[in-house]
Amino acid sequence: MNIQDKFKKFEDLNIAAEMGGGKDRIEKQKSNGRLTARERIEILMDKDSFVEMDKFVVHKSVDFGIGEQKILGDGFVTGYGKIDGRLIFVFSQDFTVFGGSLSRTNANKIVKIMDLALKMGAPVIGLNDSGGARIQEGVESLAGYADIFYRNVISSGVIPQISAILGPCAGGAVYSPAITDFILMTKDTSYMFVTGPEVIKTVTHEDVTKEELGGALTHNSKSGVAHLMAENEEQALSMIRELVSFIPQNNKEETPLRYTNDPSDRIDESLDRIIPEDSNKPYDIKDIINKIVDDEIFYEIQSFYAQNIVVGFGRMGGKSVGFVANQPAYLAGVLDINASIKAARFVRFCDAFNIPLVVLEDVPGFLPGTAQEFGGIIKHGAKLLYAFAEATVPKITLITRKAYGGAYDVMNSKHIGADYNFAYPMAEIAVMGVEGAVKILYKNITDTEELKKIQDEYKDKFANPYKAAEVGYIDEIIYPRETRKKIIQALLMTKNKNQKNLSRKHGNIPL
Ligand code: HXC
Repeated sequence: MNIQDKFKKFEDLNIAAEMGGGKDRIEKQKSNGRLTARERIEILMDKDSFVEMDKFVVHKSVDFGIGEQKILGDGFVTGYGKIDGRLIFVFSQDFTVFGGSLSRTNANKIVKIMDLALKMGAPVIGLNDSGGARIQEGVESLAGYADIFYRNVISSGVIPQISAILGPCAGGAVYSPAITDFILMTKDTSYMFVTGPEVIKTVTHEDVTKEELGGALTHNSKSGVAHLMAENEEQALSMIRELVSFIPQNNKEETPLRYTNDPSDRIDESLDRIIPEDSNKPYDIKDIINKIVDDEIFYEIQSFYAQNIVVGFGRMGGKSVGFVANQPAYLAGVLDINASIKAARFVRFCDAFNIPLVVLEDVPGFLPGTAQEFGGIIKHGAKLLYAFAEATVPKITLITRKAYGGAYDVMNSKHIGADYNFAYPMAEIAVMGVEGAVKILYKNITDTEELKKIQDEYKDKFANPYKAAEVGYIDEIIYPRETRKKIIQALLMTKNKNQKNLSRKHGNIPL
């Protein structure tokens, strides 16, 4: 073979590898409203930046006639490239090859890029579209999964890991995405479950469709398994690019600085009018967040789940910040089991990856009721308390209105390590709201006139931020209009914060 022939062979092999499971299966993939593994990478990464590895790897199985069907690359496209010029490792499962099933061989491809990512300190993005363990391979495939799970765990908190679910994801295969930091699902074309509708029908006699059981809406709104939902794949991939822009490469790096024309000292008079006169009336906390972040860009996480708390990323003065905010527009912003878990996980992500926390607090307390108590609100609420207390990143709190009871302590109070605590003049900081307090303290008084007088007195005494300011639990009382300027000042003050918790193997967060 001369050199030209050798080049030709190389070219032919490349073309064969890129055809995956062949023309017909590619067409079927498209007719199901899905992109191919390579098209997805193309959209996700910066133009021409992707470098494919292990393109010519083939499986070594022989059972059930699979020995004669060897497809170059064995169904996964893996490698590295860039997003906004920053190094990213990626794998993309090709459903056209044995239904994107995981073999010993293609698991090794994922393991290889995960090991590289950990060594190089760069994020891993997984694009999942797979029928699960390759049935013909038995335990070899299961071993491949476990090798990936193990790396997901040891990489957790060291490099960011993001999963997109763009097709089926079933059985134990769901546990790799579950360990990663963020799961994004596409509407109508993706699903995740441990056991599918047929098994459920046999075991529990329930009738449920794939979509109801494990579709994007289910996991974004009901189970809380997923964090983001996209209308289609193009949107999903661009949402991942945006998400990456808010986070650092690894736990040793800071988030990138993004230049903005938005002045750090911008005053916004409309903020003075967001909180209603009547403190029992709702308002949308996102109206405040949107007005204070750079260029009004707020990237919300889990926007459909536990909507009584809002979490997400924004930038202030060009730097990424993680927002945790009670939402008075939903269940009055009360803390319940789901809200506590949602916020605790987000706080821990931000702390692991050096992203300062800004907490906007308007919380009437924890949600009462047997459902909450039997469901373990004690343990779950403690997760949030624990997460805030152990976080060593800069921590800033602004009490916009209510800060009642245990929820005052939990929501990043001074006492659990917040670095700077603001309050608006409308803030109400007390053990409980006026009606409840007066009922307990004066249960024998029935005269409505007299009760009203006592309530007014309580309100005067406690429904303000000054008691807390007198003792230094609030560092500064500010006008709403100057929120952006004040928070950025505090973020700059805390920029070089250097705090470490005592050395230990790991804490024991109440799981
Ligand atoms: C080998 C598989 C496969 C698998 C699909 N294929 N799943 N090959 N191993 N797990 C092949 C099919 O034979 C078919 O090959 C091609 O992929 C496309 O599959 P279809 O069934 O035609 O596609 P569709 O109708 O879209 O259905 C997709 C599907 C279904 C819902 C994913 O294929 C399915 O139910 N697959 C099995 C899912 C499963 O039970 N996996 C094991 C889960 S347990 P041809 O040649 O016809 O194109 C598990 C354990 C992990 O994963 C444990 C980790 C701890």
